[in-house]
Amino acid sequence: MAAFFINDEDNMKSIKVGLLGIGTVGSGTFNVLKRNQEEIARRAGRAIEITMVADLNTARATELTNGEVKVVNDANLLVSDPDIDIVIELIGGYGIAKDLVLKAIANGKHVVTANKALIATHGNEIFKAAQEKGVMVAFEAAVAGGIPIIKALREGLTANRIQWIAGIINGTTNFILSEMRDKGLDFDVVLKEAQRLGYAEADPTFDIEGVDAAHKLTIMASIAFGIPVQFDKAHVEGITKLQATDIRYAEQLGYRIKLLGITRQTEQGIELRVHPTLIPATRLIANVEGAMNAVMVRGDAVGETLYYGKGAGSEPTASAVIADLVDITRLATADPEHRVPYLAFQPNSMADTPVLSMADVTTSYYLRMHVADKPGVLADVTRILADSSISIDAMLQKEPTEGETQTDIIMLTHQTQERNIEAAIAKIEALSTVVGSVTKIRLEELN
Ligand code: NDP
Ligand code: HSE
Repeated sequence: MAAFFINDEDNMKSIKVGLLGIGTVGSGTFNVLKRNQEEIARRAGRAIEITMVADLNTARATELTNGEVKVVNDANLLVSDPDIDIVIELIGGYGIAKDLVLKAIANGKHVVTANKALIATHGNEIFKAAQEKGVMVAFEAAVAGGIPIIKALREGLTANRIQWIAGIINGTTNFILSEMRDKGLDFDVVLKEAQRLGYAEADPTFDIEGVDAAHKLTIMASIAFGIPVQFDKAHVEGITKLQATDIRYAEQLGYRIKLLGITRQTEQGIELRVHPTLIPATRLIANVEGAMNAVMVRGDAVGETLYYGKGAGSEPTASAVIADLVDITRLATADPEHRVPYLAFQPNSMADTPVLSMADVTTSYYLRMHVADKPGVLADVTRILADSSISIDAMLQKEPTEGETQTDIIMLTHQTQERNIEAAIAKIEALSTVVGSVTKIRLEELN
């Protein structure tokens, strides 16, 4: 078992930290820790210093650390160094990062990571290893960058039955949607800018296809509902198929389209889904722009709460990494069984509530169909919806442009099960008067 505080004399020693990967977040962590070292030490009760860095590019690492710390190329040297108390993993991915985290734990070191991909896919194994070894694994920076949402869910809201969480939890896609809408810029141009600003993942398809948001949502769902991390059960849809036409129609109907991560406890099980979603433009969360993140949490006692801030970037993410360093420094003397559990619930009190398939999810829908401008078309469509017990909340029918014989019909439905709407869409698409496929986007009133 790892223990920092052996006696009073030992108590005065600084905590020695090893940093794996000094890229965007790693360099921010080094700089903030150095800049605010006095204040951080006053909060933590002792100094926290990075004494060793491992990075493939040792020349850059030496330059970034002003030659003040030992720099190594082989990360294995760092995780087995007996002088290191806490290892910060900021390499990313679940290849080498997983090996190094498990080695660090096996060597009795506490671990801080910002790696949501790793926690969402291998968290159960990592927490078990840490539990057995009596060390801590902290991952505040893995969800929503600088926003202390893990702390809020795990500790601040601990009195509540969490009912649902809905969040804009990927800065890159929110930045892309905002810039495309406000400046009319092309998708590829904005994505390049997000990469330049350090928001995007090493593989940006993780951002734009919704995978990164699903990693973060998986982690939040586990903490909110006390279930093991189950990324493989998440429904994942990104923004690459979203069309500018739908963004415009949504605005005309009083909605904004955001990439939302939604998890909800229902009587049948837990919803776990990431997809573009229409939200009423009047909701605060609909006005979260650029790389900013926001997470809404509804608890049975507290009602709705909203957490907002920078979800990506060097120093905002470093803020969360360092908060974990301070937490570990403060809690290291507590018996492992008296520390805050990783997933908020005690490991022997986890639930086996099932995660629902998307077909079982109930929500509202935006439907856009391109139809022949003929009498009776609308009646055919509404009959199909009525026969499936789907009621219409609002409708928009565009005048065909001059010389055109086809036009768009947009409908907003009340809540129904996904399997119902899919069956109705198949029937609508089979009508001879409907051209091509029906566009379906989910809609949440969030009230
Ligand atoms: P970067 O790519 O900027 O940094 C990763 C660093 O790790 C690079 O310096 C890289 O070196 C180094 N590295 C790669 N392989 C090894 C290895 N085998 N041994 C030692 N060093 C290695 O990533 P970020 O800082 O952006 O992200 C780090 C983590 O933080 C990821 O898990 C990411 O998902 C997460 N995160 C990132 C946020 C952000 O805003 N960027 C926000 C929240 C979380 P080289 O460049 O030479 O390959
Ligand atoms: N690529 C992520 C994002 C980084 O854009 O939100 C923060 O986790």
